Amino acid sequence: MCGIVGYVGDKQAADFLLEGLSKLEYRGYDSAGIAVYDGSKIRVEKCVGRLAALRDKIKDNVPQGSIGIGHTRWATHGRPSDTNAHPHTDCSGDFVVVHNGIIENYLTLKEDLIEKGHVFKSETDTEVVAHLLEEVYNGDFEESVREVLRRIEGSYSLVFMCRQHPDELICTKQDNPLVIGLGDGENFIASDIPAIINRTRRTYILNDGEMAVVRKDSIKITNRKGEPVTKKVFEVNWNAEAAEKGGFEHFMLKEIHEQPKAVRDTMSQRIAKDGKRIVMDELKWNADYLNNFHKIYIVACGTAYHAGLVGKYYIEKLARIPVEVDIASEFRYRDPIIDENTMLIVVSQSGETSDTLAALKESKRRGAKTLALTNVVGSSIAREADQVLYTWAGPEIAVASTKAYTTQLILFFMLSLYMAEIKGTQTEERVAELVAKLQQIPAQISETLSDVEPIKTFAKQYGFNEDVFYIGRSLDWDVALEGALKLKEISYIHAEAYAAGELKHGTLALIVEGVPVIALATQKSVYEKTLSNIKEVKARDAVVIGIATEGDDELGKYVDHVMKVPETDELLTPILAVVPLQLLAYFAAITRGCDVDKPRNLAKSVTVE
Ligand code: AGP
Repeated sequence: MCGIVGYVGDKQAADFLLEGLSKLEYRGYDSAGIAVYDGSKIRVEKCVGRLAALRDKIKDNVPQGSIGIGHTRWATHGRPSDTNAHPHTDCSGDFVVVHNGIIENYLTLKEDLIEKGHVFKSETDTEVVAHLLEEVYNGDFEESVREVLRRIEGSYSLVFMCRQHPDELICTKQDNPLVIGLGDGENFIASDIPAIINRTRRTYILNDGEMAVVRKDSIKITNRKGEPVTKKVFEVNWNAEAAEKGGFEHFMLKEIHEQPKAVRDTMSQRIAKDGKRIVMDELKWNADYLNNFHKIYIVACGTAYHAGLVGKYYIEKLARIPVEVDIASEFRYRDPIIDENTMLIVVSQSGETSDTLAALKESKRRGAKTLALTNVVGSSIAREADQVLYTWAGPEIAVASTKAYTTQLILFFMLSLYMAEIKGTQTEERVAELVAKLQQIPAQISETLSDVEPIKTFAKQYGFNEDVFYIGRSLDWDVALEGALKLKEISYIHAEAYAAGELKHGTLALIVEGVPVIALATQKSVYEKTLSNIKEVKARDAVVIGIATEGDDELGKYVDHVMKVPETDELLTPILAVVPLQLLAYFAAITRGCDVDKPRNLAKSVTVE
């Protein structure tokens, strides 16, 4: 996720560009840049670091001009650096572009453009768009941009400048947001409303495939076929702070609802064109490499550790390699058995967690091959590991991790399938069947999110209990651990997750009348056993909320309430089952008046041991 702005009017463009970017830093902040037409050429100023670094760089020589574009970056392709920062230009500097999203066919386009003599400066997918525009430009700015859009594939919001057309900006979008702010003798473009809300509340919200030619006194919008589109003005009635959360009350709720897109983005480019297998161009492993490993450790903290537990199950089930999962702060002090036949996988949303980074360094010192799964390009853990796989969830602002967890599970699932295919431990048919189910997950998460009222009711009903238990077996236990952590960390309720079969060995003593128990029963292979554990707690008059899959009409007979998630392969069910648990924690915290996005005692990234 990145932040984009554009300005055309009679005032200094840089003033709005910098102001607008400051309101969009929650969308990405590893580098920033602006481009302004100064009357003879387009001047580009950009650098790595937060917006403050850019302001400092240009403070004595701010680009002058009344038309420009700007960008604040969340890296996906190409680490954070001055050259990878946006805006990007073609060879001549006459064509300049800023981009949010992923150009999925950029490598093919780049190879072709290099063959035609284009010289690239950055590692990004975005730079390809600038050179492509240079390649196809025929004097008609709008038609040339349309030709570019015919050749690129992927998700994008784009804003273009052209030196030969110094009084207009062209913008367009596909699967990423873009709004136009309507001013008086000036117009604004932005990824999101917060950037423009201090200048105007009258906006056009662009739809996928629409293109706008924006001048200071006119806006021409057309559809993919070039036909004129008449837009209704959308009057923004949010305050600035609410606008940053996209109209949601908290970042956590916004990020829970971003999961379908985060999961889709993390999958994109890693599913083969035939939709039947996984490709991981970042790794390029083969059977010799994989067969070298006798053991895999997965090491992480908190939610990432819980994702690792599911990752273990996936790798052992699909790729048949032994896996051990460990909490990072314990792992490095237990003198782990590591040699050159060991793989260490670290998982970290922030890529900066000290315990995890320390475990990674210690494992490398002992000879392990290392792989990082992280959400932040260029983070310390990303740079330290031998290889990296990125989740593409976009910035996760809320302290409670949600979309990072589901995208980590997706990444582990794809990695396990990739390993299985290399090792031949799964048939092509089984792999194809699972890849097909995987592609349904974003829509199934959306379906799960479509009706939150029952969960809100449970949260109000049970939100004042001081003790809550989560139980499950197999993958359900792993998800129960994550559900309990969510509830603890934002509602401050003492929640405990337990392997359902373990209750009778002690914890059952705590189950008394009225104690809420969240029972996950999605795993068919252990369903009957889980049912008997549910009966155990019901016999002690617990209040049981069951989590089941669609089509299970049995569980409802034994519990007080049932929350259902869509049917899929039970390996993939954790990605769906966690969503009601995230929402339950969220609404319980609201019921108790807690600070959802910034819970007491906690930080988003724990960079101390
Ligand atoms: C999760 O909700 C917590 N905020 C916390 O447990 C977090 O998952 C843990 O600190 C690990 O962070 P990382 O993924 O950035 O390494």
